[in-house]
Amino acid sequence: MKENCLVLGIETSCDETSAAVVADGKELLSNVISSQMELHRRFGGVVPEVASRRHVERMTAIIQEALDQAGVRLDDLSAVAVTQGPGLVGALLIGVSAAKALSFATGIPLIPVHHIAGHIYANQLVEPLRFPLVSLVVSGGHTELIYMPDHNRFERLGKTRDDAAGEAYDKVARLLGLPYPGGPHIDRLAREGNPAHPLPRAWLERDSLDFSFSGLKTAVGNVIQRKDPVNPADVAASFQEAVVEVLTEKSIAAVQRTGVSELVLAGGVSANSRLREALAKRCAEEGIHLRVPPPELCTDNAAMIAAAGTYRLWDGQTAGLDLNAVANLALA
Ligand code: KG4
Ligand code: ZN
Repeated sequence: MKENCLVLGIETSCDETSAAVVADGKELLSNVISSQMELHRRFGGVVPEVASRRHVERMTAIIQEALDQAGVRLDDLSAVAVTQGPGLVGALLIGVSAAKALSFATGIPLIPVHHIAGHIYANQLVEPLRFPLVSLVVSGGHTELIYMPDHNRFERLGKTRDDAAGEAYDKVARLLGLPYPGGPHIDRLAREGNPAHPLPRAWLERDSLDFSFSGLKTAVGNVIQRKDPVNPADVAASFQEAVVEVLTEKSIAAVQRTGVSELVLAGGVSANSRLREALAKRCAEEGIHLRVPPPELCTDNAAMIAAAGTYRLWDGQTAGLDLNAVANLALA
């Protein structure tokens, strides 16, 4: 069962239309990503209806391209894995419908995948995951600390109570007049500045592994309004230090509390250079093994969905053709 297992992954939860083929849950054969970033940029964020329509237009061609690049045909596939949620429901539905159609037409199993599980399994495409582990998942929609005792088992240790880390990056970028998505722009700009502005760190109540970033965003807004003229690079650096310090220290606390020695970084914000640097330093000090996905696997892609889906297939976690997209799907 675990040899020559070819899984097609499909991801359409937000503004990337992606299809990929992964062999045996670890070998990336293709990973085609069609980003809608340019389409949404002038609105300063993703417009759900526009995203869904573009997914419909691109889906079939992207799947064909993923198969062609991998050099496989539809009837070589062992299963089709798709992001069931969380995400924009109209966008998710396009991927789910495509996966169901393929499963129906070819008779291969249909595997629903949680988007966060996908982000964690992006790391599996580099080197096998070692359990137990803690994963810090930081993206435009999520900021979560997840404990995994084994494959396919997830326990949430902490989550954001308001904005996700990536969302905070995007909102602060907007305040600074930077284009969407703002994360990479703040990352670059921060390197030219100094963290000169004292900004709040939301540690929340003692021992909490939850996060909160909306107060920080408001504090940045106040700094920009108060100081005239303000050096944008200093604001970016100050904001980034505040986010990174909280993400880093709560991750280390989660690892220590669960007694694991493996920390896995996941999600779009894990591309952040300062977060990678700070986590690497603290993990080295604490004797924790840190895993960081390569930049191209940090943001949304279907290879991570195919990798996570393969382990669910091996666990028998397949779905029927009545599968539906779930915007706020729980991780279980
Ligand atoms: O995982 P992802 O592609 O989509 C979601 O599932 O949300 O993450 C996108 C998020 C955006 O908010 C983007 O600004 C952020 O990841 N991001 C970054 C960086 N690269 C992408 N944030 C900070 N620094 C970066 N280098
Ligand atoms: Zn994502």
